[in-house]
This record gives sequence, structure tokens and C-alpha cells, in this order.
Amino acid sequence: MINGGKSLHGRVNISGAKNAAVAIIPACILSDEPCRIENIPNIKDVNLIADIIRNMGAKVTKVDKSAFEIDPRGIVNPVPSYDMVRNMRASYYLLGALLGKYHRAEVAMPGGCNFGVRPVDQHLKGFEALGVECDCSGDVIKTRTDKLTGARIYFDIVSVGATINIILAAVKAEGMTVIENAAREPHVVDVANFLNSMGANIRGAGTDVIKIRGVEHLKGVTYSIIPDQIEAGTYMAAVAAAGGDVVIRNVIPKHLESITAKLREIGVEVEEYDEAVRVIRNGKIRKCNIKTMPHPGVPTDMQPQFAALLSIADGTSIITENVWNNRYQYVSELCRFGANITVDVRKAIIEGVPSLTASTVRATDLRAGAALIIAALAAHGTSEIEDIRHIERGYEDIIEKLRGIGADISRQSIGSPIVYTA
Ligand code: UD1
Repeated sequence: MINGGKSLHGRVNISGAKNAAVAIIPACILSDEPCRIENIPNIKDVNLIADIIRNMGAKVTKVDKSAFEIDPRGIVNPVPSYDMVRNMRASYYLLGALLGKYHRAEVAMPGGCNFGVRPVDQHLKGFEALGVECDCSGDVIKTRTDKLTGARIYFDIVSVGATINIILAAVKAEGMTVIENAAREPHVVDVANFLNSMGANIRGAGTDVIKIRGVEHLKGVTYSIIPDQIEAGTYMAAVAAAGGDVVIRNVIPKHLESITAKLREIGVEVEEYDEAVRVIRNGKIRKCNIKTMPHPGVPTDMQPQFAALLSIADGTSIITENVWNNRYQYVSELCRFGANITVDVRKAIIEGVPSLTASTVRATDLRAGAALIIAALAAHGTSEIEDIRHIERGYEDIIEKLRGIGADISRQSIGSPIVYTA
């Protein structure tokens, strides 16, 4: 329940990056010793991936709200539970990690947010180049190899998941692996930094060519996950939409450059500090065109939040979605607030309206849900957002954090069962 139309003021702390955590937790399987991972966001997706490796025999201890100790030495059966993995897109990282350690892996086809076909052909192409046999005839991907051998792999499309998965599989392979046309997202770099701190030899993460020289052993380490770029961007967009003045702390401003640039174009003031950004919006929101791109472009995971913000801009904005095929299912929900948006394949044409009015809407996926919160914060009156489990699987304490900066927001439980959907 959100009583909107109130500006936001104060400070909010950003949690660790979800998309780094869901890769780093399975990456611990590759270690020969226990690892301590810090700055883990306390969200359902992360707790689920931790449960999956615990279920295989790893000892996963939650040391405090944001730290896990993970000892992979007890893994007896390297086959993750079908029911646990099938609804979580990031469970594909178990393929790379289990292949790297045990030379075999069987993982149910990944599900995840429902925005278009989500193929894994580039992952499989990379595994095969390393000498892995892949069988995808059923709904479980079965992979095995006698030996992983380094190879040169060119990705036909920039894929975060495929880049990380091949790093995981290649880190203990014999010889050198070269990934060309690699993804450059901050969480790709974070996974490589984590593995390097364990003794891996990965060079070039953050560029489009990554070189991995295989090593025999990886040791246990303590590692702290980077701040969540998308969570930070979501609060930035929320302040821009609702108005106000908020300092967003525990961020890496460099990771937010494309989001900051677009907000400034829209007429929002953004001040950058070492580990914080201050977002101030008093005046009108200007129209702006946005094209989502792999990093360092505007992240596709910010596309719905920008659409919510631009729905109250002065003039017509065009968003072009270049990463996913079908990421506008949320638009009909946004229009219930009075937004005027038409979708034409990959483009959303947003005719700005002077203000939004409260509505009852349903979150269809994680970032769509975040966009609905942003719209409700800007809208006058009391809005109701249903199915917030989609939002809470990716945003730690979102209701408490928004309340901390002055939002009138509360959670109402209607007693529905918890279902894992990623
Ligand atoms: C990750 C993020 C997700 C984000 C996306 C793009 C995680 C857990 N999720 O998803 O939030 O929206 O990056 O930044 O980190 N593709 C292929 N073949 C493949 C793999 C991907 O065609 O083998 C296509 C996809 O359909 C999509 C594009 O490549 O159109 C990008 O996908 P990818 O970067 O792989 O996304 P994910 O890693 O799944």
C-alpha cells in the first residue's frame, strides 16, 4: 500500500549486488576450502541458491544478515534438486561451477522472469568448446567431460550469464581459454575478482576479451560483494519520480554512470561522492530517449523504472529495448496509473502526462514491480501493488528502506504461500 505524492528525503543504504551474489555463491563450489562471503543481500533469490548448494551437501552457515560461510567439501551428490533450480534463471551457474569441479552437471532448464525466450545456446557453445558433451533433449541440461581443455570462444551475442558460466568452467581447465565478445557488467568483474582472490588466473574482466589460464587449486577466502547497481538505480529513479533530495550510500558511482547521465538529461541533479550519490529533483522532468544496451550502456534492468519516471515527463520519450525480446508486459499495469504508453515491438512511446493517479496493480516480475512502486510513489492517492513477492525476491527490505526516506508505504499480508519464482 503506497500513499503517493510525497517527496523523498534522507539517506538510504544499498545492499550487495543480487546478480553478483547468485554467481559467487555457486562459484564457492570450485574452492578446496571454506569461503566467507560478505555483503550478501538478504533476498529470496540468494537464499534459494544457498539452499540449493546446501541441499547438495555443502555446509552453508549464515554468519549474520549479510554474510555466509560456505564449505563445499561436503558435496556428495553434485546434482541439484530439480524442483529447487527449475524456477530460478541463475541456477545455470551451477552448470559452470559443477563442471569446473566435478566434470559433470545436470541442471533443470532455467526459468526466471518471463520476458521473452531465454536461450542458453551461447553457454552450451562455450562448454562444448572446452570439451564438454551437452545433452538438452529433455527438460534437464546434462553435461559431462573427462577433461576440460582451454579454448578460444567467440560469443555471437553479449551474454552476462554465458560469460560468467564459461569463466566458472574454465578456471580449472587445462591451458588457456579466451572469451571474445564477453559481457563487461560490473558483476562479471566481481566474479572474476572473487575467483582471482582464490588463486585463479583471469585477466581482462571488464573488457570484451577475457583470458583465463587454468589452475589446479582454489583456496578459501573472505570476499565482499559489490553494491547493487540496479538497486541503487531504482532508488535514484524513485527520487527523480517522487521529487526530493536523497543520499544513496554504499554505491560505486562509476557503475551508475549511464543511469546518472540519463537522469541529468531528464533534469535531475546528481552529485557523485566516493561511495555515494546524492539525487535532487525539484523542477520538471524532461523527455528523454533511452536505448538499453549491455554495459556500459543503460541496463535493461532499469528499463521499466525509467518508463515509470518518463511517464510524467514534459513531452514524448522513446525507450528502445535492445537486450530482451519481450520486456514490456508491465506497460498495461503502468497505464492503470494514467500513464500514456504504446508499445511497438522493441520501442515504448511514452507521452508524458502531468500527473499519475493511484491504482491497484499487480507486479508481474522483479523490475516491473519496482517500476510500479515508482509510479505509485509519484501518483496522488493510495495505490495497492499485489504480488510483491516478485519484488522482494530482488530488493532487500525495500519497504523499510523507502519508509526510511519518507515514503508512506506498508506491507499487507494476505497470507499467500511463498513460491520461488526467479
Ligand atoms: C542477466 C541478469 C538479468 C539482466 C541480463 C542482461 C542475472 C542473474 N540476470 O541475465 O537481470 O537482464 O543479464 O543484463 O545476472 N542470450 C542468447 N543466448 C544465450 C544467452 C543469452 O541468445 O546463450 C540472449 C538473451 O536471450 C538476451 C541477451 O542474450 O536477449 C542477454 O542475455 P544475458 O546477458 O545472458 O542475460 P542473463 O545473464 O540471463
